[in-house]
Amino acid sequence: DKIIRVAIDGPSGAGKSTIAKAVAKKLGIDYIDTGAMYRAVGYKTLSCGVDPKDRQALKDMLDSTVIDFSGGNIILDGEIINDKIRTPRISKKASECSALAEVREKLVQLQRGMGQEKSVIMDGRDIGSNVLTDAEYKFFMTASAEERAKRRYEELAEKGQDITYEQVLEDIKKRDHSDMTRELNPLRKAEDAIELDTTGMSIEDVTNYILKEIEK
Ligand code: C5P
Repeated sequence: DKIIRVAIDGPSGAGKSTIAKAVAKKLGIDYIDTGAMYRAVGYKTLSCGVDPKDRQALKDMLDSTVIDFSGGNIILDGEIINDKIRTPRISKKASECSALAEVREKLVQLQRGMGQEKSVIMDGRDIGSNVLTDAEYKFFMTASAEERAKRRYEELAEKGQDITYEQVLEDIKKRDHSDMTRELNPLRKAEDAIELDTTGMSIEDVTNYILKEIEK
């Protein structure tokens, strides 16, 4: 079978990871959550007490960092960190770290390697525009900030996190702004990506839409 690469980009909370997981399962290919990789770096700076502004300390930290996916888990230096990286604090730190050249260089290189030998679906901010520019299928998923905040809020509330909808909306708007205006690989739609506004669409509808495009 020939290798296919599927890129899904879009702002936080657009539902990329839920959809990408479902599509990966349907097609029997690997799913790579690149946001989790930036979160892993953010998590590590916090747990090691490294200030990302201290570029030498950041560089040293990255040189001894191993990030891998296995069996649906994200593994940082041998430790499964799935549940530890989905907090508002880590979201902020991940966004801060993702603007730094040292971090992007390391993670983009890793991601390109992961998309080389096998079929993958990768989600993030710069997959279609930078990481896998020659991906066979590219999608750009959006939804209104209010809808995205509502989805994220429900997810966090379900996990018992003490946060209000207003706070989540505020965080989303801030993160959108920094992800779109940063200098390095900002969030933007690749010219050849299919744009999909998922406001009001169900998970099933979006998954089927993408599968149909791929099977065309
Ligand atoms: O997708 P998720 O919210 O988990 O990503 C966390 C942060 O990582 C984003 O806010 C963004 O700053 C950064 N990111 C990125 N490039 C990607 C994926 C995520 O800069 N390809």
